[in-house]
Amino acid sequence: MFTARSAFSAIGRRAFSVSAQQNSKVTVLGAAGGIGQPLSLLLKLNPRVSELALYDIRGGPGVAADISHVNTKSKVTGYDAVPEQLKAALEGADIVLIPAGVPRKPGMTRDDLFKTNASIVRDLAKAAANHAPNAKLLIISNPVNSTVPITAEVFKSKGVYNPKRLFGVTTLDVVRASKFISEIQGTDPANEEVTVIGGHSGVTIVPLLSQSNHPSIDGETREALVKRIQFGGDEVVEAKGGAGSATLSMAFAGSRMADSLLRASYGETGIFEPAFVQSPLYKDDGCEFFSSRIELGPEGVKEIHPVGKVSKYEEGLIATALKDLATNIKKAWHLVPHSFMPLLTPI
Ligand SMILES: NC(=O)c1ccc[n+]([C@@H]2O[C@H](COP(=O)([O-])OP(=O)(O)OC[C@H]3O[C@@H](n4cnc5c(N)ncnc54)[C@H](O)[C@@H]3O)[C@@H](O)[C@H]2O)c1
Repeated sequence: MFTARSAFSAIGRRAFSVSAQQNSKVTVLGAAGGIGQPLSLLLKLNPRVSELALYDIRGGPGVAADISHVNTKSKVTGYDAVPEQLKAALEGADIVLIPAGVPRKPGMTRDDLFKTNASIVRDLAKAAANHAPNAKLLIISNPVNSTVPITAEVFKSKGVYNPKRLFGVTTLDVVRASKFISEIQGTDPANEEVTVIGGHSGVTIVPLLSQSNHPSIDGETREALVKRIQFGGDEVVEAKGGAGSATLSMAFAGSRMADSLLRASYGETGIFEPAFVQSPLYKDDGCEFFSSRIELGPEGVKEIHPVGKVSKYEEGLIATALKDLATNIKKAWHLVPHSFMPLLTPI
């Protein structure tokens, strides 16, 4: 399992051990933001990344100049918000991460961001479909439950959609779950793995504690733990008092997801990450996208694993999640692909 500790000791080791053939271009759209900056820095430390393209509507070149002084081998280039630069940032990318958009303020749900972020992601997805149709796309911008279906529709409308390559990043829910359960149990989070399924907001986030190392957690402790995992983002939003949402822990989670995909693309096997992808698991319930345990391979999604045996309590959580998730997905389909909304980003 990839934990904070293993990430950094591994980065140090791998800087010298990854083969010279492991050269990937990674592009970050929204690279100058609260998530974008630390995420770009962590990607600069990844020895599998040979080229880092940092694009933002403001400040991309500045962040790139700063990060480029870190003495790892990758080349870092910043791009401004003009169509040729967005094109150059995307061309040849193996992985594109999208944290562009606005974050939540106290009292807001992720769905409240739909109006602004849906069109930002839609426009960036159009550019990605045009200039990096074969890249693996990692959508971080919220509401992930809707921005991922939007991206899929954009790619379909351009005839370049491959569901194996589109991921909503839910890794932070998994990171939080292992940390929070370790705090209750007094264990090392490095040894805790909690599969989190569903979507990425409130009650659509379903941690499967019955499949963790501590299936006997129940009663009020279970209630509080599940709630903390589902609404962990609110803790950060409240603590920041209007200055944004989770950025540093999200950068860690996004960098872990990108690294898992890079390792899988170079042939490493046995790599599992929950992620919000097009999935057959609950399609009949109106949820064409669903996060569950995914095995990664060179193409992206190698296999979507079934949810497996869950408790009665978790069956209830899943039923509640599916209702919200179906609504979030349907909402996305109203926006694309032939929306009349003006483009916010040059393509
Ligand atoms: N998936 C997750 O687990 C998760 C966790 C935390 C936050 N988020 C989401 O990530 C997004 C970013 O959060 P943040 O805290 O970094 O916000 P931020 O406001 O600090 O940064 C966003 C960046 O996006 C840029 N941007 C805006 N429109 C753009 C466009 N059209 N093209 C390129 N860049 C553009 C802005 O200039 C800014 O630099 C939010 O939607 C937030 O809700 C997701």
